[in-house]
Amino acid sequence: MADMDAYCDMEQDPDVRKFVGGYARSREDAESRFLNGAFQPVNDRLAMWATILKSENKYIGRCGLYPHFNVDGNPIKDEATLAFYIARGYWGRGFATEAGQAFIRFGFDVLKVKRIVATIQVGNDPSVHVIKKLGFMLCHTESGPRSFYHLELKENI
Ligand SMILES: CC(C)(COP(=O)(O)OP(=O)(O)OC[C@H]1O[C@@H](n2cnc3c(N)ncnc32)[C@H](O)[C@@H]1OP(=O)(O)O)[C@@H](O)C(=O)NCCC(=O)NCCS
Repeated sequence: MADMDAYCDMEQDPDVRKFVGGYARSREDAESRFLNGAFQPVNDRLAMWATILKSENKYIGRCGLYPHFNVDGNPIKDEATLAFYIARGYWGRGFATEAGQAFIRFGFDVLKVKRIVATIQVGNDPSVHVIKKLGFMLCHTESGPRSFYHLELKENI
C-alpha cells in the first residue's frame, strides 16, 4: 500500500502513458488497478516487479518479464516479454537499461526462457534506444492506427 501514490502518479502522467495506452488514467482508475491487481502474475516470478530506488527507498516504476501470449491469449512456452516503466522524474539515469540487463539475465539464467520479446510503439524513441542497447533485434513492424515494433532477443546471439 505504501507504493500506491507513486504508482498512481505514474498512471496519471501523460508523458509516461503517451506510448503505453496513450492517455493518462484518472486517479480513481489508477487506484482501482492498483488495488485489484491489474498485473496479476502467472507465477510469482514471471511478472512485473515494483522497481525500488534503493538510495531513496522509493517506488519509481515497474519492470520485469511477463508471459509472451499467443493470439489465443495463452502463454508461449519458454518465452517472455520484457517491459519497463520508469517515473518521469527518474528518466535518463540508466534505470531502464539496468533493469533490462538484470531481467534478461534472470530470464535466461534463472527462468531458462529461450526467447525474450518486446513490443514498442513507433515513436517511443527512448524505449527503442534502450531495447537496441540491450541487444534486441527487430522482427517486424506492425502498422495500424498505432504502429508497433516487435523485437526479440535470443540467448547467445
Ligand atoms: C522508456 C523508458 C522506460 C526509459 O527509461 P530510462 O530509465 O529513462 O532509460 P535509460 O536512462 O536507461 O536510457 C534512456 C536512453 O534513451 C536515450 N534517449 C532519451 N531520449 C531519446 C530520444 N528522444 N531518442 C533516442 N534516444 C533517447 C538516452 O540518451 C538514454 O540512452 P544512453 O544511456 O545511451 O544515453 C522511460 O522513458 C519510460 O518509462 N517511459 C514511459 C513508459 C514507456 O514508454 N515504457 C516503455 C514501454 S515499451
